[in-house]
Amino acid sequence: MTRVLSVASECVPLVKTGGLADVAGALPGALAALGDDVKTLLPGYRAVMNKVKKPRVVSKFENFFGGNARLLAAKVTNLDLLILDAPHLYDRDGSIYLGPDGNDWPDNPERFAALSYAAAVVAEEGAGKWRPDIVHGHDWQAGFVPEYLQKLQDKTTKTPFVFTIHNVAFHGNTSADRLASLRLSDWRFNADHFEFWGQISALKAGLTGADRINTVSETYAEELMTPQFGMGMEGVLRARASDLSGIVNGIDTDVWNPATDPEIKAFKTPKGKSPNKTALRKEFGLDKAPGPLCVLISRLTHQKGIDLILDALPALLHRGGQLALLGSGDTQLEVALLERAAQEPNLAVKIGYDEALSHRMMAGGDAVLVPSRFEPCGLTQLYGLRYGTVPLVALTGGLSDTVINASPAALTQGVATGVQFNPITADALANAFIRLSDLYAAAETWEKLQKNAMKQPVGWETSAAAYSALYESVLKD
Ligand code: ADP
Ligand code: GLC
Repeated sequence: MTRVLSVASECVPLVKTGGLADVAGALPGALAALGDDVKTLLPGYRAVMNKVKKPRVVSKFENFFGGNARLLAAKVTNLDLLILDAPHLYDRDGSIYLGPDGNDWPDNPERFAALSYAAAVVAEEGAGKWRPDIVHGHDWQAGFVPEYLQKLQDKTTKTPFVFTIHNVAFHGNTSADRLASLRLSDWRFNADHFEFWGQISALKAGLTGADRINTVSETYAEELMTPQFGMGMEGVLRARASDLSGIVNGIDTDVWNPATDPEIKAFKTPKGKSPNKTALRKEFGLDKAPGPLCVLISRLTHQKGIDLILDALPALLHRGGQLALLGSGDTQLEVALLERAAQEPNLAVKIGYDEALSHRMMAGGDAVLVPSRFEPCGLTQLYGLRYGTVPLVALTGGLSDTVINASPAALTQGVATGVQFNPITADALANAFIRLSDLYAAAETWEKLQKNAMKQPVGWETSAAAYSALYESVLKD
């Protein structure tokens, strides 16, 4: 049994902008089933404080990164939470990372340094009687944890730190004149620790200071060490190759269960998707069509390859296919999608964030699209597998590891679960749309694909065991 303090900037069911929240929300329960004892430290954003009923005060910090703060304890669903209630940092309108002007909050470095500092205090002093054996941080927002552990603890008692990279694109960089406001030691402002091209880098602090580093798929762990995918951190990661591993994400198979999902007309076999498809077409204002009804649910950013969809779309539409898309993000992409949808009767776009609708789309879609330029793991292809919604994905990162391409060999062996394309270009995606349409037209082959998809294990069991083993291996050292 390992006591783990998980440190995350978002966590389902309290606050979510992407897959990190799903992972931070589901992994603790899966670890608990294996006997580990996890508490999750979260910022007390306004949305979090509003949802948490009657928290218990664990400790108080005066003059904490510019104001007074409290550490609160609360239980939400099956999560044991520690919440850093620091109104001067977190009690605001707007999203958790961005102000109303759409730019990062200017004090984001301090906001997440405070979170990391609180984690180090819990590691050193405990929260009540509970003290973690390990701190497990997620992404740059937890990157300074090892710096503060180093400050607050001595070498012989230092709590080990495991660092998970969900997306290496975000570095949490800031200028060197903030060393003091971030409570960092200036003697460690060098290339061996958290200095990155003259700036302070929270991500690099985590990468250099962690006892073990992992990321959310095996392929992305390899890709991270290359200039194409490392986003400038490839050298740092190569230097730590022996401590770097990949553990693929799971999904919460209770929340994503087609047999019990309250948002949909429940089903256990691919045939049962049909009433959901009819309902989905109606909801998106799409007529009947002979080709596959594709769905896409995503942040709308360059990473996610949304522009490739716009270029390759004719290949899908010419074969009688359709696309229902839900997302929000870059304004330019939002506008381009809406303009295109106004011209194409078989493209329907909803801009926004809607969890319930995302379930109905998975249930009603024939195929789910994930044409990402890079994808550490990706979760929507996993939901697709679970709902018999055949994934069409780019061959990269976790998308390589979780989908079996319908190659002639895989089809003959009866193991294929989806369609992959490579290189990640509009032309290759257009070809993939044609392959998808052909597979869809061969009804028996298609149903076999769907059945294989639905059989593939996508829960947390195996990966939670891998995390548990990782914790144990660190503690042994
Ligand atoms: P990332 O974390 O890079 O955004 P993931 O695939 O790991 O990518 O996770 C994205 C998560 O956010 C999934 O749970 C997905 O369903 C959800 N999501 C993304 N955009 C939307 C949206 N517009 N509405 C509802 N859910 C969304
Ligand atoms: C990141 C990645 C995504 C991954 C998620 C959860 O947001 O972009 O691929 O699934 O984190 O680990």
